[in-house]
Amino acid sequence: MEKPKISSFKGFHVYIHFPFCVSKCIYCDFISFKFQKPLYKKYFDYLKREIDLFLEKFPDNSEKRISTLYLGGGTPSLIEEDLLSSLLSFLRSRFDLRTLSEFTIEANPESIEKTKFEAFKALGVNRVSIGVQSFNDETLRILGRIHDSKTAIEKIELLREIGFSNINLDLIFSLPNETFDMQVRSLKSAIQLNPEHVSYYALMVERGTLLNRMKSKFKFVDEKIWLKEFEYGKRLLEDAGFIHYEISNYAKKSYECLHNISYWKSYPYLGFGISAGGFYNGIRYVNVKSFEKYFEKIDKGVLPYSFKKRLPVDIAKGEFIMMGLRLLEGIGFDEYYYKFGGFITEDFKNEISKLKELKLIKVNNKNIALTKKGVQYANIVFREFI
Ligand SMILES: C[S@@+](CC[C@H](N)C(=O)[O-])C[C@H]1O[C@@H](n2cnc3c(N)ncnc32)[C@H](O)[C@@H]1O
Ligand code: SF4
Repeated sequence: MEKPKISSFKGFHVYIHFPFCVSKCIYCDFISFKFQKPLYKKYFDYLKREIDLFLEKFPDNSEKRISTLYLGGGTPSLIEEDLLSSLLSFLRSRFDLRTLSEFTIEANPESIEKTKFEAFKALGVNRVSIGVQSFNDETLRILGRIHDSKTAIEKIELLREIGFSNINLDLIFSLPNETFDMQVRSLKSAIQLNPEHVSYYALMVERGTLLNRMKSKFKFVDEKIWLKEFEYGKRLLEDAGFIHYEISNYAKKSYECLHNISYWKSYPYLGFGISAGGFYNGIRYVNVKSFEKYFEKIDKGVLPYSFKKRLPVDIAKGEFIMMGLRLLEGIGFDEYYYKFGGFITEDFKNEISKLKELKLIKVNNKNIALTKKGVQYANIVFREFI
């Protein structure tokens, strides 16, 4: 087979973690702490210092283009305009932002405000990802959310008035005490608002969360209804013109999240801030998860890693496949060849043949992808490549 040509580096995908929330939702395992003003200002100073420490490793004339920027959390919609403005000026002085094609901010409905989001738009934010979770008020209350469905609808409409034309809504299914009908109503409310993108996640009951400790108090759907919610949700979204492009993600044509695609395609990305992770030049890193350690390391002039490692090639191949298979288009043989100089069908001959027999993956002459059953049972597939 002739070596295929694949386009090269188009710029970094940068993630910045904002680890503050007004209150903690019972299911949430992301790193976030109670919002406190002095601490959050200090955190921004340290973020800049972390970025400078990172850039010290790069020669001055190296390419430092950014193609996507993602401000995640936590609740980044709590950030004040001037602080975001100062962070952006800083980034602009260190990176080339002229190539920035997507700038996402995660937002919780209650902290979306007119003046602030007008300022965010003027600063270049062109995608807002809103954590709606459910349009059922009783479910929102159980989850510990501090917004209700009416606020979510009003704030989405406000973002439209401001002029945002790329909006994602995060929804979760198989939620505590929710029946199939309640879930369907919730999804239909989301579709009616005509977002460009919907993330439709299955609830994960994570260890260490309040939900895990309280789970016996709630009623959860069984596997049969879980599958029905997944499949019917998919049908409703597809009928409304969304393309199912990743296990949990649906987008109108050309509105796929470019930033998240960088994770699934194993493109180079950089993460800054507490608990953020990055992957570049074959190196994977994850930052520490507490302010104390984060500040301490940066004060010592070292990057705040809790983990940093050049991935051994076998692990890198496994991760590449696990991430790549999340995309419904699957993994092109050429992409694998370009990355590892070998053939996926040879390197993983046994795994592929087993998964084909189980009807979890399909292989043609160009690529390998999950089947419909494989999308539902993706964890069984991924286990083969760990
Ligand atoms: C980084 S979180 C935070 C977004 C934002 N702070 C919010 O809550 O509105 C991004 C999304 O992950 C999803 N998520 C978080 N924890 C989850 C869980 N345990 N199971 C399924 N989805 C979860 C939620 O839909 C959430 O909006
Ligand atoms: S789900 Fe969002 S708002 Fe709730 S605790 Fe997690 S990050 Fe904060």
